[in-house]
Amino acid sequence: MTRDDRYPGLDDLAARARRRIPHFAWEYLDSGTGAERALRRNVEALQRILMWPAINAGRIAPDLSVTLWGRRYAMPFGVAPVGLGGLIWPGAEKALARAAARANIPYVLSTVACMGPEAAGRLADGWGWFQLYPPRDPEIREDLLARARANGWSVLVVTVDVPVGSRRERQRRVGLRLRPPTGPRHLLDMLRRPAWLAALARHGRPRFWTLEPYIGGPDLKAFGTFMAREVDMTPSWDYIAELRDLWHGPLVVKGVLRPEDAERCVALGVDGIGVSNHGARQFDAAPAAIDCLPAIRAAVGQRARIIFDSGLRGGLDIARALALGADMCLLGRAFIWGVAALGAPGADHVVRLLSDDLTNAMIQMGAAGPADLPGRLVAPPPVAGQRPPG
Ligand code: FNR
Repeated sequence: MTRDDRYPGLDDLAARARRRIPHFAWEYLDSGTGAERALRRNVEALQRILMWPAINAGRIAPDLSVTLWGRRYAMPFGVAPVGLGGLIWPGAEKALARAAARANIPYVLSTVACMGPEAAGRLADGWGWFQLYPPRDPEIREDLLARARANGWSVLVVTVDVPVGSRRERQRRVGLRLRPPTGPRHLLDMLRRPAWLAALARHGRPRFWTLEPYIGGPDLKAFGTFMAREVDMTPSWDYIAELRDLWHGPLVVKGVLRPEDAERCVALGVDGIGVSNHGARQFDAAPAAIDCLPAIRAAVGQRARIIFDSGLRGGLDIARALALGADMCLLGRAFIWGVAALGAPGADHVVRLLSDDLTNAMIQMGAAGPADLPGRLVAPPPVAGQRPPG
């Protein structure tokens, strides 16, 4: 039986990942905020979007590629930034950065990933985007941006939707706070997961390499204090304007749901709008991210590109987001399921599943490229989606 036969869907990978990841780390990966209504809302809103299959469309070989800011990506999806990836599955960042570079798709490195911009930059090989949680100290900010630039991270993604620590009830129940998971129950949890322990032995203890130079070492308590004191989770519009001046490459603001906010980003010279509710991990009353996409596309028109994430569970969902105006899609949990289920080859497996599924969906719809997708929507969005030309 081949890997494709055994794990033909993302759900198969999620089920196996769950059995291999320590329970506390699974809860960190899988949970949403509060009572997790937004988590369901994201997925259900995507499923409600129906599209017309085509008949007699002739032979079609869809072109999945998309050009963003002068670079041609082979597919319209990439890996979303996931903090603590190496705790969820040791070596996750390495596997994902490599797989993205092989596939010529974006890999977004989180500020709080378990790899720094230097080592991950070598693996991402120019395909990487750098996600920033905004440092307060201008010197730290400058230094971080300089490291990102020097190590080939071409796009800066600043995340603005975490103004306060999220109330993730499932994480509370398993005793996860901003401190090391080293209590007896966490250790027992780890001992029950031999494949995870083997990966830990291979890749070493997870560390926050990006921030360690400013913290002074790998101490996890000091990391918590640094995050609380030195990272400005509530940056102002002025902060975004400053970043615009400091970063000369494409700048994406991630966590935008309202057209007014998207407009304001564009007015400041932001190049990409990250339409996202953070995978439903922050605010449980937030609308499904996909429901916010058409109005934002209509508001920004062709003045900015749209990077969409939150709730995508396959290539068909990517087609839906493209139809509603996204230029590029990111997936968070799905990629981690892949590496946790199958190790490093799992990252390539997820890329293949998504691209096969997307290709298949496009042929079903008679779509030769993303630009053909809006015309396949059964119900046009309340605000007509417009796509900028390739
Ligand atoms: C995230 N996300 C995230 N976003 C970000 O900008 N910086 C970060 O460090 C993290 N960390 C993080 C950890 C975990 C475990 C998850 C699941 C998510 C949010 C992420 O980039 C993306 O917005 C969502 O994951 C998209 O939703 P799906 O694809 O997981 O449904």
